[in-house]
Amino acid sequence: MIDLKEGVVEYLEIEGQKELKGAVRISGAKNAALPDMAAAILTDETVILENIPYLLDVSTMKNLLEHIGFRIEEKENSVLSFRLERVASLEAPYELVSKMRASILVLGPLLTRFGYAKVALPGGCSIGTRPVDLHLKALKKMGAKIKVEHGYIYAEAPRGLKGSYIHFSKKSVTGTENIMMAAVLAEGETIIDNAAREPEVVDLANMLKKMGADIKGEGTDTIVIKGVKRLKGTDHRIIPDRIEAGTFAVISALFDGNIIIEEYPYEYLGYVHALLEKMGVNVVKISQNQVVIKRSGRLKPVDIQTKEYPYFPTDLQAQFMTFLSVIEGSSKITENIFENRFMHVPELRRLGADITVSGRDAFIKGVKSLSGAQVKATDLRASAAMVIAGLIARGKTRIYDIYHLDRGYENLDSKLRLLGASVKRGFEEINS
Ligand code: UD1
Repeated sequence: MIDLKEGVVEYLEIEGQKELKGAVRISGAKNAALPDMAAAILTDETVILENIPYLLDVSTMKNLLEHIGFRIEEKENSVLSFRLERVASLEAPYELVSKMRASILVLGPLLTRFGYAKVALPGGCSIGTRPVDLHLKALKKMGAKIKVEHGYIYAEAPRGLKGSYIHFSKKSVTGTENIMMAAVLAEGETIIDNAAREPEVVDLANMLKKMGADIKGEGTDTIVIKGVKRLKGTDHRIIPDRIEAGTFAVISALFDGNIIIEEYPYEYLGYVHALLEKMGVNVVKISQNQVVIKRSGRLKPVDIQTKEYPYFPTDLQAQFMTFLSVIEGSSKITENIFENRFMHVPELRRLGADITVSGRDAFIKGVKSLSGAQVKATDLRASAAMVIAGLIARGKTRIYDIYHLDRGYENLDSKLRLLGASVKRGFEEINS
């Protein structure tokens, strides 16, 4: 991850079809690290987070917290301490929010602790419009005065937020997290109905409870939070990244099981394992947190629908599409969460995949093999799909726009190199 001078682009070049073997360790979850970092706003004591992945999105959240006034220190590798010593700003500026939509996670904590927050309105992003209306509606229900003007959300609750009954009309991960963080310091009881059940929501609840919060029902549809006066610091270990784990499960299945995956969060991937089994792939536990992936026979096509946890995660959709593109027969993927999350399809087609899209459905006819080409990483998870494609394709695949990869995968290229893949970064001058 380096800053590039203008006119220079970084790419990843993969020479495909190398044998992969060895062990790989799954990093801490990006989607748990970001809310857990934002939760440090809720206390004036020190919060220590372990197993922090070094990612572009984590640096963006770090910059945002430093902008607010945090002192952040690296204690040791993957361990950071956070302390809000003196508030410098209650604002999340556009430069940071535009880099990462999850910056919206500071809204709930800032508002509940300080009675004010100004957060740039996240724009649309490549995978869809992704509004934050549900976050704002819930905070209004809790008594916040909110106006959206000049591209910013201005939220005020000078006398604090009030516990309330919040029904999410649609399950939202960061929405649930934002409201949970707002509710822990609100007056009285908050009930979040139709809450997101993702393991990262549970991880945040566990951390908040260690800080002294009163939360029940996390991991179910209904979370009940009783507000407390203040929270204390804590030391918390971030859960492993189930999306990175699922990505390596796909890679390992394609190379038929010579890879040991360590720190594998087996219990978070039950639905994905059942689906892999249908495809002829078994995830075998060889110790408490190590697995190997074994094929049970010929690989089979399958139909997949993305859906909120505990079902199939949208964040693994692109990686499974690459997988299915080389399995003989017809498969279908329906994307139910984001309306525009098939941008990787034209890129996979450049590599020889046979995929057509109609609305929210992608129809995949398995081809014998893919052939290396130049492609673009169109979003974070699509970038992983391109890497997988490059690993199995004949010849060289060059992937551009790989900053997407660095946003969410810790050292994916070096992890793959350690397994024997031929993956290198390079730079190219562009004439604009
Ligand atoms: C989180 C994850 C992201 C994952 C997504 C879905 C983090 C940091 N990011 O994103 O990796 O792809 O969950 O699993 O955890 N929606 C609204 N109004 C809102 C909020 C959401 O209409 O106020 C819609 C979204 O457009 C989308 C759906 O609800 O269609 C789910 O989005 P949501 O769960 O909120 O995604 P994020 O929390 O942004």
